[in-house]
Amino acid sequence: MSHGRFDNPVVATLTGILDIFRKQDLSDRLSDTDRIDGKTCLITGANSGLGFALAVDLARRGGNIIMACRRQIPEAGEKVKKLSGSENVSMRHLDLSDVESIHNFCNQLEKDSVKIDLLILNAGVANPKATLTSSGLDEIFLVNYMSNFMMLNLMLVNGTLPNLTCKNNRNTNDPIPRVVFISSDSHQGSSYIDYEEFGEFSHYGIKKGMNNYSYYKLVLNTLAVEISRRINTAKTDVSFNVICPGPVNTNIVRSAPWLVRVILRGIFSVFFQSPKKAAKAVVYMGISPDFEGKTGAYLHMFNNKKMDPKVYLEEEGKKLWEHSSRVWKRIDDNANVCGSQFKL
Ligand SMILES: NC(=O)c1ccc[n+]([C@@H]2O[C@H](COP(=O)([O-])OP(=O)(O)OC[C@H]3O[C@@H](n4cnc5c(N)ncnc54)[C@H](OP(=O)(O)O)[C@@H]3O)[C@@H](O)[C@H]2O)c1
Repeated sequence: MSHGRFDNPVVATLTGILDIFRKQDLSDRLSDTDRIDGKTCLITGANSGLGFALAVDLARRGGNIIMACRRQIPEAGEKVKKLSGSENVSMRHLDLSDVESIHNFCNQLEKDSVKIDLLILNAGVANPKATLTSSGLDEIFLVNYMSNFMMLNLMLVNGTLPNLTCKNNRNTNDPIPRVVFISSDSHQGSSYIDYEEFGEFSHYGIKKGMNNYSYYKLVLNTLAVEISRRINTAKTDVSFNVICPGPVNTNIVRSAPWLVRVILRGIFSVFFQSPKKAAKAVVYMGISPDFEGKTGAYLHMFNNKKMDPKVYLEEEGKKLWEHSSRVWKRIDDNANVCGSQFKL
């Protein structure tokens, strides 16, 4: 059975707090005057927490911001406009727990000829128990991992994420599009991916719920490395990098049991970074020339780091890709895995 690094939310929280006191080696590499005028940035889960702060920061820097959210449309976008002073902010509906919504979202981007320069895969849940979605998959599996696999494939095939490998619509003189996966350093030490239970729904309680959060971050990171391996065979075509923003004072524990929630919210509000502060390292990875053409990199806040060694194993990446393709085909008649278009 799979397991993540933490099954106790308080221990996980205290471990996160220690990160705040570590030296941030690269923090002076991002300046408030770094601009991205006219660049299209798409952020999932941008209506709250870290995603919202990212939208404000990138809008201030001149980006053309697309907030992909399942609610608070258009209120959250209006707030981002107000806080950033930019009108180049739009919202699109995307429910990552609904396969049809993912297709509609990607199809509409293609119809509207959107070309993404920076894609931030930020949305996530931390469910205390199994939650069945209409596709028959567990919500945390679908939202925190599988939806990202689907979206990336759909966007590469339809060229919303310009590339030479699947769609051949990237202008080689343009900067390489970037994908940033929002992960967590808690993935370190999670178990190998368990393919017996992969994409299968079963009931579980809070202990496995807690474990699942860090475990699915390991699965997500393995995808980041594998998709990069497949698409960037000779030169970087699209860059795929991973970041842990460190502990952030957000509403991520909203579905925890009330007592745990009250305790954690108290700790979060005193010790954790504000979303605005935590967003800086993500913005750095997303826009800095330091990451131009770089792929497979990992930042833990403003520090370069290695991910868990399992994430880099070719055999693990290959298995993950095959199993993800299989699960997608099982639940969705319109699955469109571009694995066959990659040079393997
Ligand atoms: N907070 C931390 O300490 C911390 C540390 C490391 C990594 N992270 C990561 O940072 C990312 C952002 O989390 P956060 O801390 O900012 O928490 P948050 O405020 O709860 O943000 C999560 C976002 O994901 C969205 N989301 C959830 N399910 C969705 C769905 N089915 N479809 C579309 N959007 C959905 C939420 O939308 P709704 O408002 O509609 O639910 C919300 O906008 C997550 O990937 C998290 O794992 C957080």
